[in-house]
Amino acid sequence: MPDPPSAIPLLAWYDRHRRTLPWRGSGGGDPYRIWLSEVMLQQTTVAAVGPRYGRFLARFPDVAALAAAPWEDVAAEWAGLGYYARARNLHAAARAVAARGGFPDTEAGLRELPGIGAYTAAAVAAIAFNRPTVPVDGNVERVVARLLSIRTPLPAARRIIAPAAARFMEQEAPRARPGDFVQALFDLGATICTPRRPACALCPWRGDCAAQREGIQETLPAKSPK
Ligand code: ADE
Repeated sequence: MPDPPSAIPLLAWYDRHRRTLPWRGSGGGDPYRIWLSEVMLQQTTVAAVGPRYGRFLARFPDVAALAAAPWEDVAAEWAGLGYYARARNLHAAARAVAARGGFPDTEAGLRELPGIGAYTAAAVAAIAFNRPTVPVDGNVERVVARLLSIRTPLPAARRIIAPAAARFMEQEAPRARPGDFVQALFDLGATICTPRRPACALCPWRGDCAAQREGIQETLPAKSPK
């Protein structure tokens, strides 16, 4: 596997083009708000999450309020967002956090909370606590598969993509601001390195992208035939 390119062009691009989103502060932030955004964004689009996120926070402004609420109130507030298991886990994890007196501030600690998987633990660790870890969602998978021209089809490709993504944190620039780096990857995947017709001419990594050099960017990541 080749070394990943320098993260500096991506961070510079993010500084100019970062999307204004309700859960974005600068450099770390409230783990409750970040965790809530990551759980909502797992199966719901940024556009659909927007209005519901503020409403949920108005009703349950902090983890203590969520922990103290009866399940019926949480379920009612979640209505329409779908995947009720997410709301159940959210509520259970809020109770666990309240019981231990606050959020764990490491990826391993977050991972021990009920319903918090590898992605969510890494996202909260990086964005709320600036821990040097890279959560891999569909956007990050696509960006990394293209950048390094990883041709192995999904799902097997995940075993190659995850360690390749993690290697960015060997570099000084993303280690200095892990939360910005991972959100820059999300934004690049959402706005430039899109599944169809990626806007390669506007990409901060144009010139560094192996798939673009080979003209196969739109075919990656490949999927195993069913
Ligand atoms: N998708 C998942 N998490 C996100 C975030 N923090 N910002 C933008 N898109 C996301």
